[in-house]
Amino acid sequence: MKNFLNISDLSKTDFNQILDYSDKLNSNLDNCLKDKNIGLIFEKNSTRTRLSFQVGIKQLKGNFIDIRLEDLNLNRFESFEDTFEVMACYLDCLVIRTTSHKKLELAKKYFNKPIINALSDLSHPCQAISDIFTIKEYFGRLKDINIIWMGDINNVLMSLIETLDFLENVKIDIFTDKSIYNNYKNKFNKFDKIKFHFEINKEVLSSANCIMTDVFNSMNDKIDKEPLLKKFQVNKHIMSLLPAKSVFMHCLPAKIDSEVTSDVIKGNQSIVIQQAKNRMVAQRGILKWLEI
Ligand code: CP
Ligand code: NVA
Repeated sequence: MKNFLNISDLSKTDFNQILDYSDKLNSNLDNCLKDKNIGLIFEKNSTRTRLSFQVGIKQLKGNFIDIRLEDLNLNRFESFEDTFEVMACYLDCLVIRTTSHKKLELAKKYFNKPIINALSDLSHPCQAISDIFTIKEYFGRLKDINIIWMGDINNVLMSLIETLDFLENVKIDIFTDKSIYNNYKNKFNKFDKIKFHFEINKEVLSSANCIMTDVFNSMNDKIDKEPLLKKFQVNKHIMSLLPAKSVFMHCLPAKIDSEVTSDVIKGNQSIVIQQAKNRMVAQRGILKWLEI
């Protein structure tokens, strides 16, 4: 039985198979979720992830059930263990967005069917699959790509970094604040295709194929990082330092005039809508790979 909790849990074969299924189902849908019931639990807000799973599941002929946490007896006195063991009696898979990755691990212990991480505080693997799919679709290759990441060190970045093991000569230059980096630095020792920068470096930007950012403060962040990160806003000036053929990416939702300006996100180098569209393409690939 498979789960989809982190990119780092996958083998290269798994990763390539998910991308391959995403691509194939994009031209030809099949009925791989026929008679399957998939529960959706969202502890935090979502537009893209929730809707793309709902529609993607329907397209593969499955059913989805929105589970409202506040309606469950888990909200009264029932244990996590009983709740998830019982849900496995009715459901074939769970899609969970949670404030704490530990809850995903706990759910995995008691729910003996596949679980998909729809974003946690630590990772956003569905987003990473979709973003890599978008890069492949746009550039026509998955090698020799220089990515710039601007801003916070967060769940979206972590999952993106984890894809690098599966890609050939793809690297990420990360521009962030030193104090934010200091909270994480030991975590990155094992990754050799990433490099951190604490000041804008024109030479690094001039060789980029793609610049990405995300909100400076993620959902449930306790400290406001905007003052530390505002020098890494992706604006017209930053874009002028990149090659004209480079693209701007953002997982969305974007906070305009915080991490990105409106002229950049709406500009002709922005591929954010293609990225959002591919969320559903990737969700279908993940669902098929799970063999629910
Ligand atoms: N990118 C992303 O996960 O968007 P939502 O929060 O709207 O699902
Ligand atoms: N890093 C953001 C991503 C939202 C899709 C967050 O966790 O809020």
